[in-house]
Amino acid sequence: PTSKSSNVVWHQAEITRQKREQANGHRSAVLWFTGLSGAGKSTLAHAVEERLHEMGAKTFVIDGDNVRHGLCGDLSFSDVDRVENIRRVGEVAKLFVESGTLTLTAFISPFRSDREKVRALLAEGDFIEVYCRTSLEVCESRDVKGLYAKARAGEIPAFTGISSPYEEPEHPEIIADTGSLDLEVCVDQVVAELVSRKIIS
Ligand code: PPS
Ligand code: ADP
Repeated sequence: PTSKSSNVVWHQAEITRQKREQANGHRSAVLWFTGLSGAGKSTLAHAVEERLHEMGAKTFVIDGDNVRHGLCGDLSFSDVDRVENIRRVGEVAKLFVESGTLTLTAFISPFRSDREKVRALLAEGDFIEVYCRTSLEVCESRDVKGLYAKARAGEIPAFTGISSPYEEPEHPEIIADTGSLDLEVCVDQVVAELVSRKIIS
């Protein structure tokens, strides 16, 4: 939305992101996990967080299911509300990056343009898109929460993959084949990418 905050002056903190990163011993960034419901976003994000935590990193996972209970509790799954959901999460993720945190987000984020807006909101190299690539068939056979069965029965309108689109990332930094590879293999892949990008050592 257009800003209604005129006459507001940005306050520059004395403790900068750079100082926080130095104190933490690693860079901050957003690992943006995207994919269908049941693709493995939450599972992989939390498993990567555990590994990073063991490495001594400051981490935090922002998870769709949790955010929709609070910050975004007023939003539905209509297209416009999904756009607003991702906009808010992008802004929150930006604050977390400023705090020096390695931030992991787990949202379907089905629209390419919304993910690209978050990318543009952040500085070059701060947005790492992790596509949890899984076929609809695999997600549906997992049906972790029983939502696909409900969606097929017509009980959930605009369900991603069934009656609402999912736009695959075109150039994600990481493609995790969460439909066919073991969790630990995917965790190794994501952490190795962070090391090769010199975000953490
Ligand atoms: S979005 O599209 O990024 O705004 O969605 P997100 O905030 O990640 O929320 C997705 C979780 O909400 C549950 N859910 C639905 N998903 C898709 N479509 C519909 N209509 C829907 N209704 C409820 C579902 O459990 C999603 O969680 P995950 O973890 O992806 O399975
Ligand atoms: P999402 O958050 O995308 O809706 P979840 O993490 O809730 O998905 O569920 C994914 C399911 O897939 C879990 O039951 C998880 O154990 C399973 N799974 C199998 N292989 C993987 C993998 N490589 N990465 C993540 N999850 C996996």
